[in-house]
Amino acid sequence: MEREKLFIFDTTLRDGEQTPGVNLTVDEKVQIAKQLEKLGVDVIEAGFAISSPADFEAVKRIAKEVKNSTVCSLARAVEADIKTAWEALKEGNRVRIHTFIATSDIHLKYKLKMSRDEALKRAVEAVKLIQDVSEGKAEVEFSAEDAGRTDLKYLFEVLEAVIEAGAKVVNIPDTVGYAVPDEWYERILAIKENVPNIDKAIVSVHCHNDLGLATANSLMAVKAGARQVECTINGIGERAGNAAMEEIVMAIKVRPDQFPVYTDIDTKQIYKTSQLVSRLTGVLISRTKPIVGDNAFAHESGIHQHGVLECRETYEIMKPEDIGLKESKIVLGKHSGRHAFRKKLEEMGIELEEEKLEEAFRRFKELASRKKEIYDVDIELIIEGLEGEKKE
Ligand code: KIV
Ligand code: ZN
Repeated sequence: MEREKLFIFDTTLRDGEQTPGVNLTVDEKVQIAKQLEKLGVDVIEAGFAISSPADFEAVKRIAKEVKNSTVCSLARAVEADIKTAWEALKEGNRVRIHTFIATSDIHLKYKLKMSRDEALKRAVEAVKLIQDVSEGKAEVEFSAEDAGRTDLKYLFEVLEAVIEAGAKVVNIPDTVGYAVPDEWYERILAIKENVPNIDKAIVSVHCHNDLGLATANSLMAVKAGARQVECTINGIGERAGNAAMEEIVMAIKVRPDQFPVYTDIDTKQIYKTSQLVSRLTGVLISRTKPIVGDNAFAHESGIHQHGVLECRETYEIMKPEDIGLKESKIVLGKHSGRHAFRKKLEEMGIELEEEKLEEAFRRFKELASRKKEIYDVDIELIIEGLEGEKKE
């Protein structure tokens, strides 16, 4: 199978920062951007330059300091936005302006109070203006906001027109996270098959997670021919968040039989990036979050622990090392068996004769029936208790 590159567009610093309650300083944004560069993302959406002086400053600094990823600013299809975005980006190495306008009837009627024809004209003008103000130096990405609820025939017309005007990436956002996977697949496939000049641009998707389907929808879009996905670290973002980068990237890595693409992400940087974003944004990661949650590589039940200790693949479909973690975590708790307990003692350098080991295990099980997680110190106390009894 000939694999094509899937471009990873990270919007942690733009859509991710729109997470209610999150407010990153410029320095924090630069720190995250440098880590995203190490992670190997293709595009970093550094902010929405016109939205605040701090966003402008962050985009400007990131454009200057990041060399190996394209740096991007969001801009409405409005002259002032586009000029400000270019001002912030112009000292960068590889830069992109991401312009957008809503195309669904509900957004056109209630938000923009604009006709379909007018929105199409504005989209084309914005794409041309980016090329003019940047003298062709900025890449042009166009997003049809709320594309998931846009009349399909009209969406084809808009995409054809913006590609004709020079857009090199056309992004199809499921702005409100309304799509379901097979429907989303059909929509992307229809775009690939019905927009006459679609091969002159990269088709991108941007999925929100309101129904918990953002990762599934992004992956279905890849199957239908999308070659850029927009996502955030830990899936942070507006409302229920955006598609989580770590989930998309690892699904593609773990199931190459399903996706004819590769990414340039250094997956060993995933855990570190996830921790950094969580610490700086203050958005905690659920223990059961796929890939990066505390429990993602933890095994508690005795049967699972035994299996993993004998052969990791029994209950692990990816290695913790793949995301930059040292090893799986054997969590001792009420479901743990002798095998894991013995292994834990070995790790702690504790040797016990068989009879003592049996007694220590009995006490451990008794404690675990009352206490959720058993820490090393609990085991030390059990052993000390046993030792103390020996001396009496
Ligand atoms: O969700 C959305 O539609 C967006 C666009 C600006 C791409 O974030
Ligand atoms: Zn969004």
